[in-house]
Amino acid sequence: MKTIKKITCIGAGYVGGPTMSVIAQKNPDVQVTVVDLNQARIDAWNDSDLNNLPVYEPGLDAVIAEARGRNLFFSTDVERAIDEADMIFISVNTPTKTYGKGKGQAADLKFIELCARQIAAVAKDDKIVVEKSTLPVRTAEALKSILDNTGNGVNFHILSNPEFLAEGTAVTDLHNPDRVLIGGEDETAIEALVNIYAAWVPRERILTTNLWSSELSKLVANAFLAQRVSSINAISELCEMTGANVDEVARAIGQDSRIGPKFLKASVGFGGSCFQKDILNLVYIARSYNLTAVADYWEQVIILNDHQKTRFAEKIIQTMYNTVNGKHIAFLGWAFKKDTNDTRESAAIYVADHLLDEEANIVVYDPKVSAEQIYKDLDYLGTRTPEENRRLVKVVDNPYGALDGAHAAAVLTEWDEFKTYDWAKIKKGMKKPSFVFDGRKLLDRKELNRLGFAYYAIGE
Ligand code: UDX
Ligand code: ADP
Repeated sequence: MKTIKKITCIGAGYVGGPTMSVIAQKNPDVQVTVVDLNQARIDAWNDSDLNNLPVYEPGLDAVIAEARGRNLFFSTDVERAIDEADMIFISVNTPTKTYGKGKGQAADLKFIELCARQIAAVAKDDKIVVEKSTLPVRTAEALKSILDNTGNGVNFHILSNPEFLAEGTAVTDLHNPDRVLIGGEDETAIEALVNIYAAWVPRERILTTNLWSSELSKLVANAFLAQRVSSINAISELCEMTGANVDEVARAIGQDSRIGPKFLKASVGFGGSCFQKDILNLVYIARSYNLTAVADYWEQVIILNDHQKTRFAEKIIQTMYNTVNGKHIAFLGWAFKKDTNDTRESAAIYVADHLLDEEANIVVYDPKVSAEQIYKDLDYLGTRTPEENRRLVKVVDNPYGALDGAHAAAVLTEWDEFKTYDWAKIKKGMKKPSFVFDGRKLLDRKELNRLGFAYYAIGE
């Protein structure tokens, strides 16, 4: 069996950074180097002030403090790290294509291909190459073809090892995974990776499959999770019409052990880098095999999610007498969920865009997301000019500052701190009637009603 002494991970993002940090923490004898082309990102990973890490994850600072400089290194020297490694993880981004065939659906694999070509060009001895990024089924085939055809005659073994960590709980998910999935063809390569995880994960939780099952399982896991959120969100609209309460319905059905209680929280819509991208990918693959019914079925999960975001924005406009023009709406939260600074596909972006079309003035407060990121997200949509976005949207670093003088507050992210605010004081500073639109069902309806707010929550 091959013993792995040096691991390199290409891509120091939300997946690569935390995953490699934990692998290094639990395997002190293995040297782990995480490389990225982005110098600023690597500098941030190396920052002596652990508050400046590029990814905010509870508990990550302690892991980094333990392993960094011991057997965990962050660098921009990609070639050297490839050359030295026995095992190379590919953890680069695979965004949805914005051009050409499969635009808006298929995964853009250009970063993956660039990595493969670079590995092939540099490698002078046999390597195990591990797909960590989420990829369409049968990407391993393309990877192998590039490596074998452009390499220096050395052997490459490809493994698929999809990441199931959720942001905000990445460190606990990595420390205590429900399962680790490893797909591959070569038993020795599989065993080498199993041994890395076995340093802290019980063997019975390390599943091995063929390559294609592993690649597909990642897409399917995310599709099932997203489907649950869209299912409960669909019911939230029905609840609003019928007088049922979606939390009560979720509790009632979740007690059925066949259904289970998790992932049944109605919301303004799911976001994050994975759900939408992975479902679009699944839909694209199904269509490419002419499986129209299968593709349509999964596409509906996205359609419902888009509907939920639009519906929330429409509810705000309609409730505020059908006009938000020039009105001050305070956004509590911008991240796609609590305990992360990640904003990719966050519902907040699309709700804001809708309200800005109606010329609302939005003031955003998020405990972890920077003003720069918020403007970047809005500019990226291309709906209006950067100047317009800066005219209509202000970002503040104090929640009371965001809410002072507001016509309405909208809760977009379920940050715990929003519950602890002095809502009586906030009420005094807001315009009357004072509206609260709770897209996360986070706040206490009774208390807010008692204070005189006009309170609207999803699914009630
Ligand atoms: C997800 C998967 O959970 C993880 O296994 C995979 O590796 C990556 O994608 P992540 O995107 O980090 O993780 O977050 P997750 O906790 O799954 O939440 C996704 C979105 O769904 C968030 O916007 C969240 O607010 C929303 N959500 C989740 C709900 O609206 N209701 C729920 O009940 C659960
Ligand atoms: P994820 O959520 O999948 O981790 P991120 O976008 O957070 O995605 O991180 C991916 C990282 O991969 C980025 O920091 C990007 O700079 C890096 N990257 C992309 N292509 C390459 C490459 N060829 N070599 C090194 N780093 C790369």
